[in-house]
Amino acid sequence: MKSEVRVAFVGAGTVAEMHGRGVSAVPNIRLVGAYDHDRQKAELITSRFGGRIFDSLEEILSDREVDAVHVLTPIDHHVSQAVASLRAGKHVLLEKPVASTHEEIKLLKSEAVEAGRICMPAHNYIYAPSVRRARRLIETGKLGRIASLWIIYNIFHSDHALSMYGGVLREVCTHHAYSVLHLLGRPRRVSAVASSLRERHAGKEEQAMIVCEMQDGAIANLWSSFAADDPTADPWTVVYKVLGTNGGVSYSWNEAQFRDEGGPAWGMPCYEESFVEEIDHFINRCVLGGDLPLSTLEDAADALSILIAAERSIDRLDTLAPVVYSE
Ligand SMILES: NC(=O)c1ccc[n+]([C@@H]2O[C@H](COP(=O)([O-])OP(=O)(O)OC[C@H]3O[C@@H](n4cnc5c(N)ncnc54)[C@H](O)[C@@H]3O)[C@@H](O)[C@H]2O)c1
Repeated sequence: MKSEVRVAFVGAGTVAEMHGRGVSAVPNIRLVGAYDHDRQKAELITSRFGGRIFDSLEEILSDREVDAVHVLTPIDHHVSQAVASLRAGKHVLLEKPVASTHEEIKLLKSEAVEAGRICMPAHNYIYAPSVRRARRLIETGKLGRIASLWIIYNIFHSDHALSMYGGVLREVCTHHAYSVLHLLGRPRRVSAVASSLRERHAGKEEQAMIVCEMQDGAIANLWSSFAADDPTADPWTVVYKVLGTNGGVSYSWNEAQFRDEGGPAWGMPCYEESFVEEIDHFINRCVLGGDLPLSTLEDAADALSILIAAERSIDRLDTLAPVVYSE
């Protein structure tokens, strides 16, 4: 029985730092190396977390030492790189949003089954211990009937960061959508609004609110903004709140912080912890232990359905849009 899983990163940009910190903190995993088409990025990541620089994804895939690939590139490359990795017999940890369409997610599912390998969406927020505890409290009924869920995200992104990313709906509300699914199940209908404060980013929403009507009377409220930080005394940087008829849960990334200007939330240990727990689950529970991932491609498909319904609601401005799930 293997006792160490050897991984390689494709893409060595912002999120690779968090994957590197995760790899360093988790037992039974070693970073063999990284490939980025910007070689300097791969140099930086391997100098920080070990391993060598690969010259291409193909070189990673033909390296028998590599057991698993973390796909950490922008969304346009996710599906082709994940499929190539699965076909080469590697397990895949695939950054969010895993894909832009349901067809692509179906392809990922069938390729993973065909290869007999794990393709786990990197839905890191649900791996945070506080979110896992919230789910246990909901599932065991300790909170009573759930009345509301609030997931709030306020992290200012510079013009440069905004130019690199999509709007908050796909970029951030993906986290919110898979979190709602994890905590409360599938919303029936959603209503959404979005806005942009900086004109040059017109076409990309800088902030958005999605209100989800759940099956059993609960309402989930999903807020996301790149427009402003929350500098107040009780900051809502990233907050989860669940209120039930018998109790509640509150969780905030602000509970511990240190100075690290390297990237958004890099100085928030709660954020880093979500990657550590996610990677530990992927490596030790799934690849070595044979368990199923906590985050699945089915969740990714359902999260995409929620976002498509939100986009439909924003486009029509006046609708409560039904969520159409892809079976
Ligand atoms: N889970 C999270 O909390 C979280 C946080 C940030 C980003 N992300 C996701 O991670 C992904 C990457 O985001 P990022 O912020 O690291 O972006 P980034 O632009 O900082 O990094 C992406 C890297 O991929 C490289 N790259 C691009 N195309 C490539 C290719 N074809 N082959 C090899 N390398 C290539 C780029 O040179 C760059 O270094 C996105 O899907 C994003 O949504 C997730």
